Amino acid sequence: DAGKGGYDHYMLKEIHEQPAALRQTLRGRADPTTGDIDLEDFPAGTFEDVERVQFVACGTSYHAGLVGAQFLSSGGVPAQAFLASEYATSQPPVDEGTLVVGVTQSGETADTLSALRRANASGARTLAVTNVVGSTAARECDDALFIRAGPEIGVAATKTFSSQVVSLGLLAERMVRDVTGSRTDDARARLEALSDLPGHVQQILDYTSARRVAENYRDSEAYFFIGRGTVRPVALEGALKFKEISYEHAEGFAAGELKHGPLALVTPETPIFAVFTGRNDEKTLGNVKEAEARGAPVVAVASDGQESVHQYADEVLTIPDTHPDVAGVLANVQLQLLSYHAADLLDRSIDKPRNLAKSVTVE
Ligand code: G6P
Repeated sequence: DAGKGGYDHYMLKEIHEQPAALRQTLRGRADPTTGDIDLEDFPAGTFEDVERVQFVACGTSYHAGLVGAQFLSSGGVPAQAFLASEYATSQPPVDEGTLVVGVTQSGETADTLSALRRANASGARTLAVTNVVGSTAARECDDALFIRAGPEIGVAATKTFSSQVVSLGLLAERMVRDVTGSRTDDARARLEALSDLPGHVQQILDYTSARRVAENYRDSEAYFFIGRGTVRPVALEGALKFKEISYEHAEGFAAGELKHGPLALVTPETPIFAVFTGRNDEKTLGNVKEAEARGAPVVAVASDGQESVHQYADEVLTIPDTHPDVAGVLANVQLQLLSYHAADLLDRSIDKPRNLAKSVTVE
């Protein structure tokens, strides 16, 4: 218990460690005033021969990989994310112009190691994005970028997701510059938003209403999470976290896909958690209205400035105003807190959920 530092669970402690973890992740790596990036072992030009990037990962790390692929694609570098377990059976074409990035907190997940080995054997260059110096992934890959989140004990990943997304944001900026020869359009604004993240996460921790929201919906039949673009992975992650620790039925969907099937499940007993970033919000709002028309309660995760969102939502989990590419990290902190409190109200084994392991070393 001493290790929990006064918190009831490691998970809650680790959620609260995020401002400090993010400061470590960012330390010395980005200067929002000049727009410069300094990623230690990856000076300018490191990635100039990269033609495409493939992310391989599992669980929460896969969701971070999905965000990373979007950062790269929107900057002009072809990129995709794959579930590591699927990569083994249906490997996409790779050559020496392919960089395969394994995103793995522990650096020991068997599926991810297997995908990286396969990529390496096919002639791809490999890079581990990991929290553990000296891990198998860090040792076996050509290169490693450390996310510097500090040790994570709770089985459900929290602070490492935030530090992965920030690390991938910095890595993507480096790669876009190397491959395309120019900075992303709004590089400085994005770097500034990344630098503001520790303070913004602290604001959420200080003012969240996640426990009250969890209490309001504790007897629901199922919990659905929606988002589009850079926050579709956040919707998936919100649902994964919720099911992992509460054992309640939770699913995440691309907001636009709701009408293509999942809407059949929507009733007044299935709250919809909708994530907004300030980009493409009108479309997501349209999807929210489809759910609302079926009687579903709507909880928005959005900033105060998004008035039209506030008008339609039954409840809002508020996030500070920031760059749309960075808003997902903040929204995810609110969803981590929601899952934590939902599980705590149900008296679940939060730090060690049934049937799950922190690091899965079998395929
Ligand atoms: C396990 C954990 C998840 C984690 C996944 C990938 O399933 O329970 O929380 O996201 O492994 O772990 P990694 O260490 O590769 O990021």
